[in-house]
Amino acid sequence: MKKSQKVPAHEVRRADYKVPAFLVDQTELDFDIYDKTTTVRSRLHLRRNPASKGKNAPLILNGEEQKLLRVVVNGIELSKQNYALTEKTLTIEGVPDEAILEIESTNVPAKNTALSGLYAAGPMLCTQCESQGFRRITYFPDRPDVLSQFHVTIHADQKKYPTLLSNGNLLKKGKEKNGRHYAVWQDPHRKPCYLFALVAGKMDRAASSFTTKSGRKVLLEIYVEPGRKSETGFAMTAIKKAMKWDEETFGLEYDLDRFMIVAVSYFNYGAMENKGLNIFNDSCVLGRSDTVTDADIAFFERVVGHEYFHNYTGDRVTCRDWFQLSLKEGLTVFREQEFCGAMNGAALERIRTVSKLRSFQFPEDAGAMAHPIRPDSYEEIDNFYTSTVYDKGAEVTRMIQTLVGTKGFRKGMKLYLKRHDGQAATCDDFVAAQAEANEIDLDHFMLWYSQAGTPVLDVTSSYNARKKEYTLIVKQKTAPTAGQKSKKPLYMPLSVGLLDAKGKDMKGTFVIDLSLAEDQLTFLNVEAKPVPSLLRDFSAPVRVNYDYTDDELLLLMAHDTDPFNRWDAGQKLFSKFVLSGEKIPAALIDGLRVILHSPKLEAGTKAQMLALPGEADLGLQLLASGQLIDPIKLYQARQRVIVAIAEGLQDELWETYKTIEKRLSEKASDGQARGQRSLKNLCLFYLNKIVPEDVTPLAVAMVSSSKNMTDKNTGLDLLIANEAPMKAKMLASFAKTYSKTPAIMDDWLAAQAAARQPDVLKTVKKLMKHSAFTLKNPNRVSALLGMFAGNPFGFHAADGSGYLFIAEQIIKLNKINPHSAARITKPFLRWRDFEPKRQKKMKAALKLIQNDAKLSPHIREIVSKALKA
Ligand code: BES
Ligand code: ZN
Repeated sequence: MKKSQKVPAHEVRRADYKVPAFLVDQTELDFDIYDKTTTVRSRLHLRRNPASKGKNAPLILNGEEQKLLRVVVNGIELSKQNYALTEKTLTIEGVPDEAILEIESTNVPAKNTALSGLYAAGPMLCTQCESQGFRRITYFPDRPDVLSQFHVTIHADQKKYPTLLSNGNLLKKGKEKNGRHYAVWQDPHRKPCYLFALVAGKMDRAASSFTTKSGRKVLLEIYVEPGRKSETGFAMTAIKKAMKWDEETFGLEYDLDRFMIVAVSYFNYGAMENKGLNIFNDSCVLGRSDTVTDADIAFFERVVGHEYFHNYTGDRVTCRDWFQLSLKEGLTVFREQEFCGAMNGAALERIRTVSKLRSFQFPEDAGAMAHPIRPDSYEEIDNFYTSTVYDKGAEVTRMIQTLVGTKGFRKGMKLYLKRHDGQAATCDDFVAAQAEANEIDLDHFMLWYSQAGTPVLDVTSSYNARKKEYTLIVKQKTAPTAGQKSKKPLYMPLSVGLLDAKGKDMKGTFVIDLSLAEDQLTFLNVEAKPVPSLLRDFSAPVRVNYDYTDDELLLLMAHDTDPFNRWDAGQKLFSKFVLSGEKIPAALIDGLRVILHSPKLEAGTKAQMLALPGEADLGLQLLASGQLIDPIKLYQARQRVIVAIAEGLQDELWETYKTIEKRLSEKASDGQARGQRSLKNLCLFYLNKIVPEDVTPLAVAMVSSSKNMTDKNTGLDLLIANEAPMKAKMLASFAKTYSKTPAIMDDWLAAQAAARQPDVLKTVKKLMKHSAFTLKNPNRVSALLGMFAGNPFGFHAADGSGYLFIAEQIIKLNKINPHSAARITKPFLRWRDFEPKRQKKMKAALKLIQNDAKLSPHIREIVSKALKA
């Protein structure tokens, strides 16, 4: 094998930020679309930036993957000697302080398999510009702090591309020669180029409207591939809910006359917030009640909300540079969570959020690419759209709200948006606005933006019966993370309650500010020794250690007034018994029985309370106790607890299942119904572990005759899990029914790749040849390979075959779509957490990838950081 060429890593550092040398006040773009190539003509109204120090600095434009045809400055065409062209830049010296720059270039959307820039998504042409895709369309200062007004003309064949869309308002459209037509769009709001969008093609359109609080009628449109209009209902409802919620909660009214969503079938992400023209992965917006699962319905609302909320937190106020990504993403995820909580129940949403954080962000924060929510450096910014930037970023935002109160937070938001409207801002700007509006000092709090790692709070307590005083001592520390050795104590809110021996809440919730390595707090007039309810509502993104007895946790699980901590007490008990191997006490089974029967709890909450922590979360807890992970042993330890619960609750699980099954309509899909369905199916999942012969006929019926997609999928999962003889036949008939519906086939692929069975690699290899699979579509890749990469029996097979297989796929996919490939590379980042034999095999697979000379910077960054000592 050839040794890898040493391509020097190009590291971008936050400390090196410089304002742009030139500003672009206006950007006029003309797209001439033909089957093979698209010609892009741009006219940039340039002005030297008065804030820039380099008075004679050259104009440097980014540009990749296109053919440059013409460069014209103030009407004079430049010859090749008058500019410098490299693979990534176009540099022009001596540009006057004010100039009109015209550039003509061509690109080939049909060959753009990376799905960044202008590309063919099935029958449509569309764009994805965040973060650095615009430079693949035309030469431009592709950075978020260059804001410009966009004026866009699109020409194309009228039959092939009847719909031509871009941001803002449609100024005019009309016919041209040779069966072609054109459309002119103008966006009145200045924006960075990453928010530019263009879509062209044959599409169906669903339309509705929303009247804003000030009485303006906004046109709502959803564009889809022909034949899919009937799948737009969920998204249309979600847009209206999101618009209303943002008006009522933050006073934010939509600011254009039309809001468009386009659903495309090839997309690297979930969705993108381009101004006035959001583009969505079809898997995140499209579906009819007979094709979607309950999880899809909830997710559509979440993603539609998220992208819509970016209109203010992202579009109207954007980021100065990509290090500030959490300014828009953390804040917008926070807004999305508040929205989903308001729509579906705050406790349900909070529990969902925290289990996701523990499963994805905590491991990331402990891995080889750990970084603060505002990273200090990157090689490939695409690799930093992480759970840390997003989900921990949302938690940091939430802590501010907890510190200043909901009202204060909204005041701070108002000041932030007013002060920075139309600007590219920083995380400091956001925190400064919150601090000023609420007259508090958040200087120490800023450390959350620069310090990586999950802080651990070690809490001890003492009770003085004579003085009736209860004291908590909280020691905080953060373990070193990759590239960041020493850690400081952080400023954070700790919400605490006290329960008496009967489980009664003695004093309500206190929010205590922690800021020292050791904080101490004393509660007065505490009548009896209490049980502390710590970190209520998960008031900070930390781990808490407190030496609870089982009885204390059972008390919290049964009685805490804080629903999050009720759930979390259960999680602590489950974790303890998974990791210790101790016998599950009858009292825990009794406690779960009470929960199952409780008339006060919603079905969805019961389902959450009965579900065990995920394998990733448990793995981290194992590491915290000083052990390395054997993923199969950990899986078996978790199964042991599941089986014990199923055995202990067998009668109640059947009873719960039957009661819900009888009265729940297959068609119902509101929040209540979704909760009930999740509880019903969780019961079956438990029962399947102990009486598979009784569950199998039910599962077969679910797959073959239920009209509800959640139940159909659950049926498949159950049959796969218990290796029912009917499995193969049911899988085949399912595939036959849904062969024309890729989103459903993705669930089918994923269910098989998730099988906790030793032969899963064989299955996945076979599925790679199935007509439902292609490496070219990121949704297919995530469904099959992404799922496999999280399967202890697949990826972590003891013989190393899973690592090798994924490494081979990464090398193949690297040439097609580096971003899609990067996603399945990240599981390798944690190789050091596993037992020595697996460590060795994972490392060997990483080396194999590293040896590929043509590795994209995306993969190279991940691999080299994984292998770094
Ligand atoms: N701005 C992002 C889309 C994006 C992600 C662009 C990565 C470039 C790189 C968008 O707002 C987003 O965050 N989408 C999420 C969905 C959301 C519900 C968290 C996504 O695509 O996963
Ligand atoms: Zn976002």
